[in-house]
Amino acid sequence: MSIRFIEENKIFKLDSKTSTYIFGVFEGNYLVHYYYGAPIPDTDVEQLRIRPGFASFCPDSPSARVFNFSPDVTPLEYSTFGAGDFRLSAFAVKNSEGNKVTDLRYVSHEIYSGKKPIPGLPSLYVNTEDEADTLEVLTEDKVTGARVTLVYTVFKEYGAITRCVKVENASDKPFYIDTVHSLCIDLPGNDYEMLDLYGRWVKERSLDRYPLHRGIQSIKSKRGSSSHNHNPFTALVSKGANEDYGECYGFNLVYSSNFSIDVEVDGFRSSRLVMGINPEGFSWYLAPGETFYAPEAVMVYTNKGLGEMSRIFHRLYANNLIRGKWKKAKRPLLINNWEGTGMNFDHDKLVSFAKHAKDIGLEMLVMDDGWFGKRDHDNSSLGDWYVAEYKLQKGLSGLIKEVNDCGLKFGIWFEPEMISPDSDIYRAHPDWCLHTEGRDKSIARTQYVIDYSRKEVRDHIYSMMYDILSNNNIDYVKWDFNRNLTEVSCAQLPPEKQGEVFHRFVLGTYEIMDRLTTDFPHILLENCSGGGGRFDPGMLYYSPQIWTSDNTDPIERLTIQFGTSMCYPASTMGAHVSANRRTGYETKMNVALWGSFGYELDPDKLTPEEKAEIKDQIALYHKYYDVIHYGELYRLITPFENEFHVAWELVSEDKNEALVTVVEIKRAYDEFFMLRLKGLDPEKLYEIEETGDTFSGAYLMNAGLNLTHRPHGDGLSYRVHLLAK
Ligand code: DGJ
Repeated sequence: MSIRFIEENKIFKLDSKTSTYIFGVFEGNYLVHYYYGAPIPDTDVEQLRIRPGFASFCPDSPSARVFNFSPDVTPLEYSTFGAGDFRLSAFAVKNSEGNKVTDLRYVSHEIYSGKKPIPGLPSLYVNTEDEADTLEVLTEDKVTGARVTLVYTVFKEYGAITRCVKVENASDKPFYIDTVHSLCIDLPGNDYEMLDLYGRWVKERSLDRYPLHRGIQSIKSKRGSSSHNHNPFTALVSKGANEDYGECYGFNLVYSSNFSIDVEVDGFRSSRLVMGINPEGFSWYLAPGETFYAPEAVMVYTNKGLGEMSRIFHRLYANNLIRGKWKKAKRPLLINNWEGTGMNFDHDKLVSFAKHAKDIGLEMLVMDDGWFGKRDHDNSSLGDWYVAEYKLQKGLSGLIKEVNDCGLKFGIWFEPEMISPDSDIYRAHPDWCLHTEGRDKSIARTQYVIDYSRKEVRDHIYSMMYDILSNNNIDYVKWDFNRNLTEVSCAQLPPEKQGEVFHRFVLGTYEIMDRLTTDFPHILLENCSGGGGRFDPGMLYYSPQIWTSDNTDPIERLTIQFGTSMCYPASTMGAHVSANRRTGYETKMNVALWGSFGYELDPDKLTPEEKAEIKDQIALYHKYYDVIHYGELYRLITPFENEFHVAWELVSEDKNEALVTVVEIKRAYDEFFMLRLKGLDPEKLYEIEETGDTFSGAYLMNAGLNLTHRPHGDGLSYRVHLLAK
């Protein structure tokens, strides 16, 4: 078992390949956090609890009158509000008397093999029971009757632990859950740098890095989605940690709505991180006997640098988060018509698209926005999920038949959480959108958001989608989401439940995604939100790939893909070659190859030379598919550190194959460019396919590949393909 309860000193010890995590039951049944870091034995851990700074301003607990213990300074496993711990609170309930004092103490625990799903929420899973062990620790707040179970699952081989929290009301009075974080961790010291992924539309997931300062630093969303602006990911790393060296604690929330990550450095130089549902705008009314589940958080620890941290996330997500047929099956090579035609298409145009696409070797046509209602602009018809026959003159089945006859599969676009004011559905049900009585309805992209917290509303939308999907030969769905949530309230809920609407909304989205993937297990679901505005592990549970960004410029894509790769694997990043951009097709392909590859252009407009070039690219896509989709990523030179070159490498699990890509952002005038490779077997000999030269893995990793004479120029790029002999 990777989880043990050691009776002698009442500690829980959670061991994985790269980490040890210890907490224990202390006097007064406080749960005290002892340690999270590289593996250690279970001796001497008492020392870890003792922290300096005990003073008269640090409250003493009558039930734990032990030297040097105060809830204010002792590292606590799951902090609460109002009972002596003045640092960030992981949990607070407002009781029926109206106060928020909360104090959770240990009651009992259970350890078992495997892992249970979280009702209604996405979560990591085990393929076999022996992959992971789970610890459930029951705690209780005696006054309110809040029974809170802290759940930990150790993925032994990965160096990863997941956590989630279950709250039950065991009293005879209701209470409100005011704050429920999924994770709380106290680390000694503040010698860390914090990493986060920030951005906006067309510039998602750039990497920011800064030293922790005293006080609170935060990353949050209150947009009703995880957002382009901040990602529910952060890492605390030792000062100077780089791709290969240094301690890294990575944290990621399996959630697609309002999240919050706070790190507080207190006056005693301790750092506490809490992560979970954003308490702002949240409050959950829990009646006697009811249960609430908070989303899952993932923690990864390694002392081998950021590269290893990312690879742990990648392995974990590829094996224990992504599900269904497309987890391992080769995904169809698609062409999407959005950048080629916008909404300006008809039956003949798409059939011609399909013919040309087939000619160059593509496998699936995705018909994007514009096929339904009276949709010629983005100002109408969302929610009218029936075919615009004035555009698709032979109906959907007629179109799909002709596309299939060309030898292509067919995919389709929906935006199921949205409604246009100019739509039949809105005219029939003007109250179906999110709105607050007496207030203006904010409009964005000329659309409103459908109130997915209402079952009858989402059932109606799903029944329209079901009709389309069950009556047609459709292999792929792109699920888009092009605005954020405003005026979030729901007239169907009583006042005490208005703080639940954001969370109920995302539960509604998860429910429909679950129904779709269960009813149509053959369909490849690609998530999208104006590009990568909802790129999070919650979405990956339903859709194995996500459209990474509306920005398909290969140079601007570099920061987006490097940032995304911090915790999400290559197979999840939708990446397409498009027209009208500043580099040639070679660089567009080289960048898009690092992801779920496809095209986003009008093939009718390609010259014969371009067609020939794309045919060659497609052959390369097939050749490199396995090393990209199932290989291990090494970021060799990142755009966050080098303005001239970037380089990345994917290495097969057996280390027999590697694909290196170098992009020259601007001419470096490097006289001598040695690129040290990583992740190879030092004992093996590798042949460079392009030149026929052979080098040992040790040479390539320690001395490097001499790329001095490779072509230079702004936006040029090349690949180096290595095969073990
Ligand atoms: C935003 C997406 O990111 C695009 O790819 C495209 O599907 C448009 N929406 C369609 O409206």
